[in-house]
Amino acid sequence: MQIGDLGRVLVIIPTYNERENIEPIVGRVRRAAPQVDVLVVDDASPDGTGALADALAASDDQVKVLHRTGKDGLGAAYIAGFRWAFEHGYDVLVEMDADGSHQPEELGRLLAALAEADLVIGARWVPGGEVRNWPRSRAVLSRGGNAYARLMLNVPLHDATGGYRAYRATALQKIGLDGVESRGYCFQIDLALRAVRHGLRVVEVPITFVEREHGASKMSGDIVAEAMWQVTRWGIAGRLGRDNL
Ligand code: GDD
Ligand code: MN
Repeated sequence: MQIGDLGRVLVIIPTYNERENIEPIVGRVRRAAPQVDVLVVDDASPDGTGALADALAASDDQVKVLHRTGKDGLGAAYIAGFRWAFEHGYDVLVEMDADGSHQPEELGRLLAALAEADLVIGARWVPGGEVRNWPRSRAVLSRGGNAYARLMLNVPLHDATGGYRAYRATALQKIGLDGVESRGYCFQIDLALRAVRHGLRVVEVPITFVEREHGASKMSGDIVAEAMWQVTRWGIAGRLGRDNL
């Protein structure tokens, strides 16, 4: 269904072991934005999240499921979801975590901002933004990671790692997904940087991020290391004028 001038909107929800979260989050999206379709991208979760998503899709034709064969990272899951969305003719692609950290009730504000932007990032570390129930260590990691990315990459963003976003499909097509190699959460920084480098309009809107109540974060040392390494590489390449993202 069309939403105003934006066209057809798809919310993409990547899942890995989100059994307790999948039904509530899909329900909240459907209630908060009834015209929007939902695609769950499940990496063969051992806890059966994929089967639960299939059951939701069976009773609601605005809910779809993309099954992948194994855990391959957040970035790879989103790229698969984006390609599916292109094939199915969507105009706006939204990224949203499955665990309730991103409020579907705030989606309208992200989409409204997209009227004047190509990418809208729901931002925590801006005035009006908020994080609830995070341990101090996690807030320090996120703020530190964002400060490092901002400094190294010279991008005017406060939450380049944020995972609640709305993209115009045309923006992603302009960026091109073929060269994107980021597998973990640095995928978010990667795409934000590419969007800025391509001259796209990137806008941050404040959101309230609420830490999950069920299940566990998939954040790991490897994911942090990949992000640190990549940001450092992109930063150096950019300074040498060899940044061809
Ligand atoms: N399909 C798939 N495959 N989904 C995954 C994978 C994967 O390998 N890894 C994580 N996910 C899904 C989770 O199931 C969840 O729906 C979402 O991606 C986010 O994962 P979390 O593990 O809950 O992330 P977080 O809360 O630690 O991190 C949040 O903050 C990061 C840093 O700011 C997220 O909002 C990230 O997007 C963000 O980059
Ligand atoms: Mn989470």
